[in-house]
Amino acid sequence: MIPYGRQIIGDEDIASVTEALRSAWLTTGPRVGDFERAFAEFCGANEGVAVNSGTAALHAAMRALNIRPGDEVIVPAITFAASSNAAVYEGGTPVFADVEPETLLIDPASVNQKITARTRAIVAVDYAGQPADHDALRALAAGRGIRIIADACHAPGATYKGRKVGTLADLSTFSFHPVKHLTTCEGGMVLTDDADLAAHMRRFRNHGIDSDHRSRETSGTFSYDMVELGYNYRLPDVQCALGIAQLKHLQDWLDKRQAIAARYDEMFADVPFVRPLATRPDRTNAYHLYVIRLDLGRLKVDRRRAFDHLKAAGIGANVHYAPVYHHSFYRERFGYQPGLCPNAEAAYSEILTLPMFPTLSESDQDYVVRTVTELKHLS
Ligand SMILES: Cc1ncc(COP(=O)(O)O)c(C=O)c1O
Repeated sequence: MIPYGRQIIGDEDIASVTEALRSAWLTTGPRVGDFERAFAEFCGANEGVAVNSGTAALHAAMRALNIRPGDEVIVPAITFAASSNAAVYEGGTPVFADVEPETLLIDPASVNQKITARTRAIVAVDYAGQPADHDALRALAAGRGIRIIADACHAPGATYKGRKVGTLADLSTFSFHPVKHLTTCEGGMVLTDDADLAAHMRRFRNHGIDSDHRSRETSGTFSYDMVELGYNYRLPDVQCALGIAQLKHLQDWLDKRQAIAARYDEMFADVPFVRPLATRPDRTNAYHLYVIRLDLGRLKVDRRRAFDHLKAAGIGANVHYAPVYHHSFYRERFGYQPGLCPNAEAAYSEILTLPMFPTLSESDQDYVVRTVTELKHLS
């Protein structure tokens, strides 16, 4: 099976983890700060707050922005559910905005229609690896007390008008799950230039306690205060050791992803029923995912059959994502109905995610393209 995504673990990663395992610190020790600083520097941000998943990063961001019951948070309909679940954790109400058909990024025109007096934040998901239109979103938010969280879990290393992802929003969240650009097994980080927000999130990830074990040991004290209800969202030193080693390859892996995407684009240019998602000329794409839309009017099969055909051929295609409000939790809790975001719903019936990872070989990629091309003969 050729998977849609795959991690790369080398000898240096294993050596870095082994060194951490043999050290005095398995959990919150010196490697946490080292990883935070290194990842923040790669992305051009001042502060990094490491946590144990991308979901925890989103939750920390919601808490830092003080999202509370009654607050509305605008989220694109096409994203992983965690983007909106994080608002729900804090009692907020997710409001779904539609996406642009060519990119599946949050559509600022739809956001504009969804803003109310209760809107407190917009989650700009950098879907598949391409930054959302952050300037347009910022213009909508300005002067209205609306903050922007970039859910950049797909997009470390991408740029928007020459600016790096990680610097585009008030807070930017990342995931280090194995299918992402670099992995810590599970893990995540929030980047920001705001030192107060960062300090709040460091406390939040440690139960809401105002110091950690290591800082108390250094200052020779045993007492601490829990000043808010936080969580245990700490990312252990051992996993940070893996992140530090992985980060050394990130630029090379990004280059490889972009080269693979360019090759897919070139090969699909002659296939009339395949439309790869567009990348806007003012942006670079980190290509977490390579997503195509099938022009079903030119085929005798639907997306389900197309997916099954690829699976039967040993290709681990995937679908990212059903509109979040289709999930029964969202229907039942918030009463969302089909028809809410027509572009997202139309896209959902046509999208397929094809294999995309830095070690995908040209022959495997040729095989994927050939197998997709065969769809025209199926009925
Ligand atoms: C857009 C998006 N947001 C958030 C997450 C959550 O990240 P994690 O799986 O690390 O909790 C993911 C991960 O799949 C994601 O793709």
